[in-house]
Amino acid sequence: MTAKLNVNIDHVATIREARKTIEPSIITAAVMCEQAGAHGITVHLRGDRRHIQDRDIEILREVITTYLNVEMAATDEMLAIALKTKPDAVSLVPESPNEITTEGGLNVIGNFEVVKDASDRLRNAGIFVSHFIDPDLEQIEASAGAGAQQVELCTAEYAELTLSARAAHGEGAEKANAEIERIRRAAEHAKSLGLIVAAGHGLTYRNIGALAAIPEIAEFNIGHNIISRSVFTGLFRAVEEMIAAIRAK
Ligand code: PXP
Repeated sequence: MTAKLNVNIDHVATIREARKTIEPSIITAAVMCEQAGAHGITVHLRGDRRHIQDRDIEILREVITTYLNVEMAATDEMLAIALKTKPDAVSLVPESPNEITTEGGLNVIGNFEVVKDASDRLRNAGIFVSHFIDPDLEQIEASAGAGAQQVELCTAEYAELTLSARAAHGEGAEKANAEIERIRRAAEHAKSLGLIVAAGHGLTYRNIGALAAIPEIAEFNIGHNIISRSVFTGLFRAVEEMIAAIRAK
């Protein structure tokens, strides 16, 4: 089965927050993504509220007809918001104060009790729980033990290796292929433990093909590259083109 696409619309809110105004509307963006065929909408509520705001989650909860996935750190503040607004899914992610974007996956092994407690609270409220982790077999096992229903494999390393034309040949291609293999093995292992497998971070129209060909990956969460393309093509077309790139595997 072809993997689903959740569009991460954080950076529509980044433009809005640049002026602390009401445009562009992330609600319009979410509806347009859905109309273009996205299977869900992903937003990241950050501690510093640099893009998505609490109120956005409340309104998105009301208007989204597909699937609302909220990425957040496993803090009491964030869990209270999730338990109140009840998104379809929560993806637990690491967060450090001055990062530009999420830096690698959650260390479930090192924070087992905190992650398990957060996952239990979310699951007890009927919220689907995903852990954003590196494609590492031990972290996957820890996630399974800590109550995850899904793991989202962090593709940041793969994204870095495939950013330029260096990935097309020689040493660059070898490194990229090794990382694809690491992700493939991680996806197989996660699935064998009964976890649903998602992937995301830094994925582009150019590098999605190799991962879309991994049958265990059921879902992609992609944001920056789609929103970047939409500046030139419009959001509807940018979403359609990413769905086509996933299907073209
Ligand atoms: N998945 C997770 C867990 C993320 O934190 C992010 C970035 O917020 C994404 C996917 C989307 O990454 P990108 O914007 O690079 O496509």
